[in-house]
Amino acid sequence: TKQKLWGGRFTGKTDPLMHEFNQSLRYDQRMWAADIAGSIAYAKALNLAGILTKDEQEKIVQGLTAVGQEWEQGFDIQPDDEDIHTANERRLSELIGPLGGKLHTGRSRNDQVATDMRLWLLTEIKHVVRGLKGLIRVMVERADKEKDILLPGYTHLQRGQPIRWSHLLLSHAFSFRADLERLSQLIPRISVLPLGCGALAGNPFVVDREFLAKELGFSSVAENSLYGVGDRDFIVEFMMWASLAMTHVSRMAEDLIIYSTAEFGFVTLSDAYSTGSSIMPQKKNPDSLELLRGKSGRVFGDMAGFLMTLKGLPSTYNKDLQEDKEPLFDSYDTVSASFKIAEGVIATMEVHAEKMREALTMDVLATDLADYLVRKGIPFRETHHISGRAVALAESRKCQLNDLSLEDYKQLSDKFSEDVQSVFDFEASVERRESIGGTSRKMIERQVSVLRTALEQM
Ligand code: ARG
Repeated sequence: TKQKLWGGRFTGKTDPLMHEFNQSLRYDQRMWAADIAGSIAYAKALNLAGILTKDEQEKIVQGLTAVGQEWEQGFDIQPDDEDIHTANERRLSELIGPLGGKLHTGRSRNDQVATDMRLWLLTEIKHVVRGLKGLIRVMVERADKEKDILLPGYTHLQRGQPIRWSHLLLSHAFSFRADLERLSQLIPRISVLPLGCGALAGNPFVVDREFLAKELGFSSVAENSLYGVGDRDFIVEFMMWASLAMTHVSRMAEDLIIYSTAEFGFVTLSDAYSTGSSIMPQKKNPDSLELLRGKSGRVFGDMAGFLMTLKGLPSTYNKDLQEDKEPLFDSYDTVSASFKIAEGVIATMEVHAEKMREALTMDVLATDLADYLVRKGIPFRETHHISGRAVALAESRKCQLNDLSLEDYKQLSDKFSEDVQSVFDFEASVERRESIGGTSRKMIERQVSVLRTALEQM
């Protein structure tokens, strides 16, 4: 029977369940390309360090390239392949013979795995960026087209003030823009090369780590080998990032779930992103949005679980660190899918402008009524009170604010005149919010252009 890579000092066999328990190839095989790339760079560095001849280096690189091709076409996994590193090394030696055994000189799986993880994440983050940009883009395009639609803006889920529908949509887009920015800020901290740290103490063959960093596209090298092999903060940071991004996805989903109820009726999801009930024939449920909301919990769990794994570990490598992979991959997969689904939902949902309009009752102009009196010279604290009394009066008469007569208004304040009727205009109300960040048409256009520029630049 074949020897385990580390089998020299062992006489007894591994318990079969322990073998299973220890095996990570099932999930770490998705880093095969990073593992091969790291090994190719390392073979070159070993040549520069005088450990491999040029000819040996070339044979190893050819062998590694062939192993990579096998992964593309269906790698033949052997029962004793413990992880992606041992699988690749085993196969390399099968292809090129004992020379394959020179590749691991001065290297450990400890610096190797840390390198693979970072390299994998650096590559995959580009897809996350693309997905997030796609989502922001559909939101911006929709917002640009639907500027005419007004609805009540809510606080405490109670009608507050009229806003443009685009303003609400863009509010979520701005959260996502911040996520895009935060994601790019993680990159320099992921891009720190562990390769050449060895098992823990450093590389005794004096490989040129700056050469390795350049070859692999890292922006810096880990300056301390113990740190290099033991640090997984970049994984935590990515999952923290994913948790926050999913919080934004979830809050947006929650808005849309509420708006898609019959009680609101502001939006209808397309059939493509809804599902039905097995018993209630009339049901069309917003499952896509509920899953987006639900999956945020899953990503927080990935993050919290791994932090718990990390927090008590002694320095450098401990096998507990193998538990970094599943949560990282899971949160990566979950955010990636979530951005795509959210993009699809937003792109295809129907917006019911008339329903939003119906929800605009005159009371949402009570702030504007107070502001009207402010413009006539009364301090806001007083005008707030006066407007509140107008609301109470309308409520007691079961009418709207604009149904009160001028005499009614004059009773409340002698500053009211004919032109009070001009307050009862939703369009005029949103148009008054024209300083930066407001809901006026011009400020929506500004937001659209700010986001478009960000999409081009990030
Ligand atoms: N599969 C291991 C992991 O993912 C690779 C590193 C193993 N190192 C070791 N010293 N056993 O963490």
